[in-house]
Amino acid sequence: MPRTPYIAANWKMNKTIAEAAEFVDALLPRIAATQCDVVICPSYLALQEVVERRRGTAIRVAAQNMHEEDWGAFTGEVSAPMLGEIEVEAVVLGHSERRQFFNETDEALARKVPAALAAGLEPILCVGESEAARDGGETEEVLERQLQADLSGVEGADLSKVVIAYEPVWAIGTGRTATPEQAQEACAFIRDVVRMRGGAADELRILYGGSVKPANAAELLSKPDVDGALVGGAALDPGDFAGIVEAAG
Ligand code: PGA
Repeated sequence: MPRTPYIAANWKMNKTIAEAAEFVDALLPRIAATQCDVVICPSYLALQEVVERRRGTAIRVAAQNMHEEDWGAFTGEVSAPMLGEIEVEAVVLGHSERRQFFNETDEALARKVPAALAAGLEPILCVGESEAARDGGETEEVLERQLQADLSGVEGADLSKVVIAYEPVWAIGTGRTATPEQAQEACAFIRDVVRMRGGAADELRILYGGSVKPANAAELLSKPDVDGALVGGAALDPGDFAGIVEAAG
């Protein structure tokens, strides 16, 4: 069974509710024929608007973060059941900006990934090495360490329900994309790690993220282990994002 391509728009802290609505209305006619899984990750405030606007379409909706507990005294946080209640289907976990600026740890991720699965949310787990780690030849070591820690609470049979995004930190928002060969090598390595943990690795979707644009998407996505893209900057414009979806087939 070939894996369905998966293209996700990570808006980060961009777009008001009104702007989110405008984007969805502009995107829908442009991707009407797509066979890909198309996922939009708005801010918490715009989630419900996107959920309503995409009804009856192929678009799925993901949050950009969640807390690992279902409820409790965690001021400012949002839980998996709260996201499920408004029909959000997925959640980005472990984005490098959250690891770097908000101290999201592997220990927290080890609890967040199973919590998302238990609530019926598809986790989109981000992993990736820093520039120093790549220059030091430690890319695989970093990826393996993150994967082993963040997936430690997931049973083998559930591993392929997780979507993994390979996002080299040095390529995020920098305009410096990994080469298709670098992306392929890292995604193939990630698939091997999941296979060794007993997961149905052939079913696992692995995305590349880091300065993906309409101009480089087709080449990155042509690689056998790159099943999709997690797109930041180029996902803010419906035309550019549609171009990436189109490149995925
Ligand atoms: P970028 O962001 O496409 O702007 O590099 C990707 C991401 O952070 O997911």
